[in-house]
Amino acid sequence: MTNTTIALTSGEPDEYLFRTGDAELMRLGYQHRAWGAQTYAIWERAGFAPGWRILDLGAGPGFCTVDLAHLVGPSGSVLAVDASERFLSHIQKRMAVEPLDNVQTIECDVNELDLPAGSLDGAYARWLLCFLPDPLNVVKRVGAALRSGGVFAIQDYSNYRAVDVVPKSKAFQRGIAAFRASWEAHGGDQDVASRLPELLVEAGFDVREATPLVRTGRPGTSVWAWPDIFFRLHIPAMVETGYLSEADAAEFMAAWDERSKDPNAVLLTPPMMDIVAAKR
Ligand SMILES: C[S@@+](CC[C@H](N)C(=O)[O-])C[C@H]1O[C@@H](n2cnc3c(N)ncnc32)[C@H](O)[C@@H]1O
Repeated sequence: MTNTTIALTSGEPDEYLFRTGDAELMRLGYQHRAWGAQTYAIWERAGFAPGWRILDLGAGPGFCTVDLAHLVGPSGSVLAVDASERFLSHIQKRMAVEPLDNVQTIECDVNELDLPAGSLDGAYARWLLCFLPDPLNVVKRVGAALRSGGVFAIQDYSNYRAVDVVPKSKAFQRGIAAFRASWEAHGGDQDVASRLPELLVEAGFDVREATPLVRTGRPGTSVWAWPDIFFRLHIPAMVETGYLSEADAAEFMAAWDERSKDPNAVLLTPPMMDIVAAKR
């Protein structure tokens, strides 16, 4: 198999809420490292194995794609789908360096995903469905591409508003509320995973597991570094787009910086859910 990118998008999809520049690419790398163990664990429980044909849906710059390509090995394959041409070209560059030749990238809006019926053994989507206005449509399209018994593993937010930092801060919570408003205005759902078990059943899946996933982190850990880079990048964007006043943004960052220097501070990550479902 050769590494090629196929562009299937017919129109311009709505731009991904956090854009696809270098800074976001770097942030997704931090995110992958903070959640790597949990990611490998769900793949194992889903039964992803050498020889499988796996879809990495909303693959971004391919941090999972590369690991999945190693996991399925030369007899398997990974299809990385994303709307961002820039992220997909990053995957192509990584493929050349590894070197791996079992990855194909497809540039496409997942709302229009149309893969050959029964052509996949597994599918994985991490932090994608929370950005979509109609996750059921996408879950159905994945279901159509999976063989009977094929497995869909999902990791996504289930109750984002429960993110917190200790010592508690009202300014912190005002910032989180601004992110929520901006996310919803873009058509996303920060709690999508709480609806997914029901949607998966409707789309013809048996839900094998729906497990809550929350972590805590102290300053100096990868779990703390993950929101740290997110806030530094995206709090200014909240001001630019009018979701947060300059004063509230400054207060938010002051509260966060103060806690980042406090060895007793604790971050509770936004609750997520690990979902594993098999196509009936
Ligand atoms: C938060 S990133 C997650 C990337 C990757 N799944 C990971 O966990 O590292 C969300 C990704 O979804 C992609 N995305 C968002 N909406 C999309 C859509 N409608 N069609 C295709 N890709 C989309 C974005 O381009 C971005 O790469």
